[in-house]
Amino acid sequence: MSEAFILLSSPPTIFVQDEIRGFADKVIDPWASEAPQSTIESKAHSVRAIINCNSRLSINAEYMQSFPKLEFIASHGVGYDNIDAVWAAQNGIMVTNTPDVLTEDVADLAMGLLLSTVRMVPQADRFVRSGGWRKGPFPLSASLQGRRIGIVGLGRIGRAIARRAEAFDIAISYHGRQRQAHVDYDYYADLLSMAKDCDILIVAAPATPLTRHIINAEVLKALGPTGVLINVSRGSLVDEDALIQTLTSGTISAAGLDVYEDEPNVSATLIDLQNVVLLPHIGSATTNTRKAMAQLVAANVRAWLSGHDPLTPVPECSGF
Ligand code: DGY
Repeated sequence: MSEAFILLSSPPTIFVQDEIRGFADKVIDPWASEAPQSTIESKAHSVRAIINCNSRLSINAEYMQSFPKLEFIASHGVGYDNIDAVWAAQNGIMVTNTPDVLTEDVADLAMGLLLSTVRMVPQADRFVRSGGWRKGPFPLSASLQGRRIGIVGLGRIGRAIARRAEAFDIAISYHGRQRQAHVDYDYYADLLSMAKDCDILIVAAPATPLTRHIINAEVLKALGPTGVLINVSRGSLVDEDALIQTLTSGTISAAGLDVYEDEPNVSATLIDLQNVVLLPHIGSATTNTRKAMAQLVAANVRAWLSGHDPLTPVPECSGF
């Protein structure tokens, strides 16, 4: 039997484990061993493909160079900011991700987080559980009605959020690199101008060097004292220190976060704040979506194994 050559670079999800059974003889699973890191190092010269389920594993040039025969990376997730896809493309390494299959669940969660944040749903739940209701009524919250939402990044997920926001009768604007054809929402080329005209920002743009800390102190201040920030993208888009400062000083009203700058280490100051709703990066974390993501990862690997084009190459590699 020939040596296995598809490395699981992080512990696989249970659905990925199921999906890769069909080519299990080709898979190197270091996570079953006592010392995964030394197994990875001892097999490095056999590795031609990587399946990665950990969006925090930095797959940079140095990491990829440690596998001299590397040709293919199947990433489990739509965001792939942890992978240097430009370097991969320049060095003939194909990278795939899992777009589309998670769009609706992430958009649902964004709306849930928005409602939870504005109407203080988790705070109200804590109030009932702690017996607060017996002593008096829960404080009045802000309303979603009459608000103006600015979506930062009108890609697949941003558009799915906008569709849902339409049903709530909320005015919608968006900011992105370019105005989109056939889209009626107000477009802002300048994020600060959009923040001045809106009081809710929902961050749905991908993490890139260009989008790092685009939500900064100035943008947050422009949202104003009723301002709400929702982030379902990646923590790196928001300057978290500036966010904490504006939440603490009342410069903005509240925030709902699914993602953070240093996951899973959420700042203790954020945890202490009562005007934030904190989720543990669960946008795509439903059984259906995680199954679909695993199926897409495996379908991309099978395409590569049989010499076909992968189904969902990342844009940097789509010219291969
Ligand atoms: C994604 O797919 O990018 C989700 O945020 C999980 O990492």
